[in-house]
Amino acid sequence: MKNSENGIVSPFDKVVDRTGTESLKWVYPRKVLGVEEAIPMWVADMDFEAPPAVVEAIKRRAAHGIFGYPLIPPTFWQAAIDWLQKRHGWAVEKGWMAKSPGIVPALNYCVRAFTKPGDAVIIQTPVYHPFYSAVEHNDRRIVRNPLRFDGGRYVMDFDDLERKIDPDVRMVILCSPHNPVGRVWTAAELEHLGRVALEHDLVVFADEIHHDLVYSGHVHRVFAALSPELAARTVTGIAPSKAFNIPGLSTAAVIASNPRLLEAFKLETERAGYELGQVFGVVGFEAAYAHGREWLDELLPYLEANIDFMDRFLTERIPGIRLVRPEGTYLALLDCRSLGIAPDELNRFFLTKAQVYFSDGVQFGRELEGFVRVNFGCPRVLLTAALERIERAVRDLGR
Ligand SMILES: Cc1ncc(COP(=O)(O)O)c(C=O)c1O
Repeated sequence: MKNSENGIVSPFDKVVDRTGTESLKWVYPRKVLGVEEAIPMWVADMDFEAPPAVVEAIKRRAAHGIFGYPLIPPTFWQAAIDWLQKRHGWAVEKGWMAKSPGIVPALNYCVRAFTKPGDAVIIQTPVYHPFYSAVEHNDRRIVRNPLRFDGGRYVMDFDDLERKIDPDVRMVILCSPHNPVGRVWTAAELEHLGRVALEHDLVVFADEIHHDLVYSGHVHRVFAALSPELAARTVTGIAPSKAFNIPGLSTAAVIASNPRLLEAFKLETERAGYELGQVFGVVGFEAAYAHGREWLDELLPYLEANIDFMDRFLTERIPGIRLVRPEGTYLALLDCRSLGIAPDELNRFFLTKAQVYFSDGVQFGRELEGFVRVNFGCPRVLLTAALERIERAVRDLGR
């Protein structure tokens, strides 16, 4: 299939039929919500095959036929260490790392490890919804520090943060890059947050799951690498699952150079009954970090071209919807407030009238009434089809 814009064939133009794979992304709007032709652009997995090196490594392991409990080989850790050094200039030691079945489980373990019931935890809203549940399901209190839209992008509101910190606050959960606002935080912003964490003696959970998905002109800064003082109070969550599109392999890692934090984390994983890894997750994690670089280097310009395409399409053909241009991640906010649709009808409108399924903005926080989140990690033909459907549905509104 050809990329219609420049005639160059990209491996990411290939449309793969996911029918029959029990994909949450595809089954939910089509079977559960019952819109059979829906194009799903919601949950964070992409419609691209994983890097060939990952697929081959898993096939090789599958061919063996025995899937007993795995050990974690030294090469697993080394692949991540090399990746973090080369890609992010972050020198990590093996002794700082622990595995986790995911970043969301890791977040829950950290809330339990570093706070007690009744303590408060800061989140910067709107934000990935499991941040709320990690705090609330563990009987801790949320302190919302809403991000502020400065006319072009979302920024952290430090005045609000300083005003809201009370003695119960023990922890802050940082989303970096940020889902869903798409910010790749600058060193100055992260350093400011770091000063607040130091001043109030807070533990920081830095969810950096999206840190390999960063677009031109932006550089991801590892929070824990900003200073030894911040490293000493930070647990960082990393995984190849978003960038290499292997979230179903359920394998992630956390990094904490402070042994006290790392041991407390590991104790919580034991309390939760998690100890061993997952055979294919272990293989996929290592293969992605060890052999996925070229694939990712091809993916990033493709995703960035998807952003440009979507931006142009909306501006020229659906001016009632405005893209909040993301600096990183394959997720972006669409500001639909000028369509004149009631916020609680908006996602239903897109599903039933356009047959396109987004994530509803309010899922991430009440700040996003009138917004949806689009997952643009898909072949351009699919993105084009979705935008054309939306153009027709909006035209039919007759406004
Ligand atoms: C910010 C963020 N953290 C964590 C996750 C999920 O992580 P995991 O599948 O490893 O639990 C996502 C998935 O979209 C995410 O956007």
